[in-house]
Amino acid sequence: MRKKIVAGNWKMNTTLAEGQALASEIIHMVEDETDRSVQVVLIPPFTHLYPINKLIGSLRKKHIYLGAQDCSAHEKGAYTGEVSAAMLQSVGVDYVIVGHSERREYHAENHALLAQKARRVLEHGMQLIFCCGEPLSVREAGNYLEYVEAQLRESLFELEADLWEHIVIAYEPVWAIGTGKTATPEQAQEVHAYIRSLIAERYDKALAHEVSILYGGSCKPENAAELFAQADIDGGLIGGASLKSRSFVDIIKACQ
Ligand code: G3P
Repeated sequence: MRKKIVAGNWKMNTTLAEGQALASEIIHMVEDETDRSVQVVLIPPFTHLYPINKLIGSLRKKHIYLGAQDCSAHEKGAYTGEVSAAMLQSVGVDYVIVGHSERREYHAENHALLAQKARRVLEHGMQLIFCCGEPLSVREAGNYLEYVEAQLRESLFELEADLWEHIVIAYEPVWAIGTGKTATPEQAQEVHAYIRSLIAERYDKALAHEVSILYGGSCKPENAAELFAQADIDGGLIGGASLKSRSFVDIIKACQ
């Protein structure tokens, strides 16, 4: 059964005290209000990982997972400011985002670097959330399917088939991120179905059927249910709305 996942990418927001309060609020609301059919992933800044893992662990709630927003492509060494997969695993991280559009843009992360990062995450036994999605210019030009195909082909399609049970794809059209302009359910479903067909062609249909493909880009309580009702949308990667416990939990409930 394909996993349904709602992950909250907090990006560069909250101090530690604010983050601990937000995580605690979300965890308790998830416990009180949801049916545990959706995997919930909290993805705070690096500085919060250890204490929030303690918080999740103390509540012993394994349908609530911890994620990190990035990972070094290197195993260890003279890479000032970077955080390795081994370090993330050591503080209890379950999922790692690789290839978010903001890192592709602001840190010039190319396909080859992202392929290395993906490999590091998987080598250390964590689950990979690999982001793809086109900028507005590509959407308007109409070659958005080819664009997304290249992102997947160049960074993931060398990976062995048995690693794919640990890979989640997040389709995040760049023009929908933080803009309030959400993709329509039909727009999102078209790309999600295409992503699944690419995986089926590269590997096989059974493997592709099991891959969770999340939507990200101005997903809100008001639009989540119609997005998640689409055949190939298996949940969401949520930015702004994940910083408000009520909104984030309502999105989780819309995914049940
Ligand atoms: O990674 C999720 C993020 O890029 C989506 O942001 O604020 O549009 O939900 P937002």
